[in-house]
Amino acid sequence: MAAFGPGRVNLVGEHTDYNDGLALSFPISLGVTVHAEATDGAEIQALASDIGERDVFPVDRPRNAPGWRAFVRGSVAELTAAGHQVPGARLRFSGTVPQGSGLSSSAALEVGLCLALLGLIEEPCPDRMDLARLCSRVENQWVGAQTGLLDQITALFGNSGEALRIDFRTLERESVPLHIDEWTLATVDSGEPRSLSTSGYNQRRDECRLACEIVGIPSLRDMTPDDLSRLPAPLDERARHIIEENARVDAAVAALRSHDMCSLALVISASHRSVRDLYGASTAAVEATVSRVLRSGAAGARMMGGGFGGHVLALFPPGCELPVDARRVSPGPGGHVIAT
Ligand code: GLA
Repeated sequence: MAAFGPGRVNLVGEHTDYNDGLALSFPISLGVTVHAEATDGAEIQALASDIGERDVFPVDRPRNAPGWRAFVRGSVAELTAAGHQVPGARLRFSGTVPQGSGLSSSAALEVGLCLALLGLIEEPCPDRMDLARLCSRVENQWVGAQTGLLDQITALFGNSGEALRIDFRTLERESVPLHIDEWTLATVDSGEPRSLSTSGYNQRRDECRLACEIVGIPSLRDMTPDDLSRLPAPLDERARHIIEENARVDAAVAALRSHDMCSLALVISASHRSVRDLYGASTAAVEATVSRVLRSGAAGARMMGGGFGGHVLALFPPGCELPVDARRVSPGPGGHVIAT
């Protein structure tokens, strides 16, 4: 049994998922493949083949452990807690998506692993939204990153050739064909690694919660521009970013539907400025990378994902020569079983 979980690119809609907002994202062909084989034992034996590290733990008592082991132990524990009879198994992971760099290697691992284990159990896969929530609990409760559902929904619901407009209040998804003509989307690594559990990510979540408490609303989706004056700095800036970022998602959808790539590029760059100036989630290495790709001809560029480092997404016009370290990205298949 083997299964694949994809990484993702977020076109626009950053830090909106845990604020009941909007995002426009797609799964990429880079991801994590998990091979799983049932054994007669009562242990999970896991091998992260890229780094040559192993983990062994009792399938019925997966106590937490740091690093990649937290994802594996957490996924087994959460599947068991959801009523699935996880058997003793040998697992082997191999990944093509860079880790800790804004391309969602975590969700790729959780999704690939859960689909492979569920395949071993030979139960029908649970509702994919339930599985997305289960994977997100692994990050929240086992890894310690208070992430939202962006990465898991994209990995489980995305499809080749299209982006997903996700409304995190209703969890509705709308397919938006990604026809970008002769233009190119590419990612460039800023070279600065980050961990969502230790970066300012969790602090930003707390700030958003506090802003809602002060205004007396359930989520920042309900915040209006008039409410901003009731907030002290920097909470007013955090909230302004969310209000405007939600609007940018719909501007990007409109640009894609009308093949207006110049407008899409402007939205991408505006999102970056907002994440940097209002949300305070950029770094010197990221700024240097954004400036470099813009100098090399990109029409728009932005930091992607949780922030504080990681990859930059850039939109290049037709005929532009890409920087040597740029990697083209396009929507690939969502998470799936690849062999039985
Ligand atoms: C990370 C998290 C997501 C989302 C983004 C920011 O990728 O895993 O849930 O919050 O950051 O948009």
